[in-house]
Amino acid sequence: MKIAIVGAGYQGLVTGTCFAENGHQVMCVDRDAARIALLNEGKIPLHEPGLEELVARNREEERLHFSTELDHAVAESLMVFLCVGTLADEAGCADISGVLEAVRQIAQTMDGYRILVNKTTCPPGAAEKMLEILQTHAAHPCDVVVNPDFMKEGTAVDDFLRPDRVVVGCEDIRVREIMKELYSPFLRTGKPFIVMSPRSAEMAKYATNVMLAARISLMNQLADICEAYACDIAEVREAVATDYRIGPTFLFPGVGFGGAGLPRDLATCEGLAREAGIESDLIAAVRRVNERRREQFLKRICDYYDAAITGKRLAVWGASFKARTDDLRGGPGIFVIDGLCAAGADVVVYDPVAGTKLKERYGDRIRIAAKYYEALEEADGLVILTEWNEFRRPDYERMGALMREKVIFDGRNLYTPDVMAAQGFHYVSIGRKTMMPSDRPGESQ
Ligand SMILES: NC(=O)c1ccc[n+]([C@@H]2O[C@H](COP(=O)([O-])OP(=O)(O)OC[C@H]3O[C@@H](n4cnc5c(N)ncnc54)[C@H](O)[C@@H]3O)[C@@H](O)[C@H]2O)c1
Repeated sequence: MKIAIVGAGYQGLVTGTCFAENGHQVMCVDRDAARIALLNEGKIPLHEPGLEELVARNREEERLHFSTELDHAVAESLMVFLCVGTLADEAGCADISGVLEAVRQIAQTMDGYRILVNKTTCPPGAAEKMLEILQTHAAHPCDVVVNPDFMKEGTAVDDFLRPDRVVVGCEDIRVREIMKELYSPFLRTGKPFIVMSPRSAEMAKYATNVMLAARISLMNQLADICEAYACDIAEVREAVATDYRIGPTFLFPGVGFGGAGLPRDLATCEGLAREAGIESDLIAAVRRVNERRREQFLKRICDYYDAAITGKRLAVWGASFKARTDDLRGGPGIFVIDGLCAAGADVVVYDPVAGTKLKERYGDRIRIAAKYYEALEEADGLVILTEWNEFRRPDYERMGALMREKVIFDGRNLYTPDVMAAQGFHYVSIGRKTMMPSDRPGESQ
């Protein structure tokens, strides 16, 4: 089948590449000419494990193409997947004006029947607006399908190739069958293909993200209580996570969640509730707890150094909103780095893949280290913001020897407090006792 993908960002690039991997002819279109030029040179403008290899293979096999020309892509394809970004308005809610503008552009290029598959995250009712635009601006019939995307940056390729489920919002039986056929290679292990109304499919994405966000915020609030009552949230989490009714995922306390999606989807849900005159205090609390996380963490660092923070050299390990991605959007990483810069600290950041994006954002305001130990040279403290695997088991002696002051603010609970105290660090983590070197076993009794 010939497929057009409109928007070649994280979602569009992964979607198009995975369809090409299954033998389809895919044309990915983006209005960003520089992005398309990079892709046509065989370079990937974002970091997503496994994607580069798949893109190269499918370009080589001439199944995957990149262009800025929407009309050509739409003319060639029965199915047009909409993967443009959803922006956030001033209140943080989804602003879908750009998405609807893309639909208008698609409508004007249609030269026959098309199926528009919306994968962008849009509030309930958006598909109806899209159909209205297509019926107004296109001279040909069309169907609109809602196909929310549940992929996670960092494991997006695997999530697409082996999804937990595929959700399709579509009233037309014939179009449902086309969608089922398209996704059947990805559902061979028996994972469900779930059909529902377009509005429910739109809401399913928000509901999923709200549930996931709630788990994290709840754990973060429990972490604060643990800290106040000398409990250890890591131990408590183990007990909670092994309850089969709860399960182990999305229960890690820390400096909070980020990304372009989760915070915006919470705000959008609050907005939807508000418009309908429904109280959404629980969702508002989930968002607020998360926002407070990063503020509290930054305050903890600033309070430790107090006025002396000006000129202190602070090493930061990790800036992306989570591991295995270079995405900085909406994450606690940039919030904390911004705050440290504003407080006058001399900030040196190491992130395994986000260096280029950090350089674009901060210019000379921070230094970017090429290696993680390099960031620690003469540092007055280390701040950990992303749970990259390579930070999990460092050489503590080497760290201590490089640093001017052996202080760690760990926003991801990567280390064991007792071990850090034994290694002579002042170690601040989340929901666990702050350890001083004097806390070494047997030291101060
Ligand atoms: N990133 C994720 O992990 C993820 C996961 C699930 C759902 N989603 C949803 O996918 C959508 C896209 O997110 P993303 O992270 O890929 O965004 P992104 O910003 O990385 O990519 C969007 C791309 O669309 C292009 N674009 C915008 N308007 C266009 C137009 N009119 N014509 C052609 N190209 C256009 C932009 O230039 C950009 O390259 C969002 O609605 C998001 O909520 C994203």
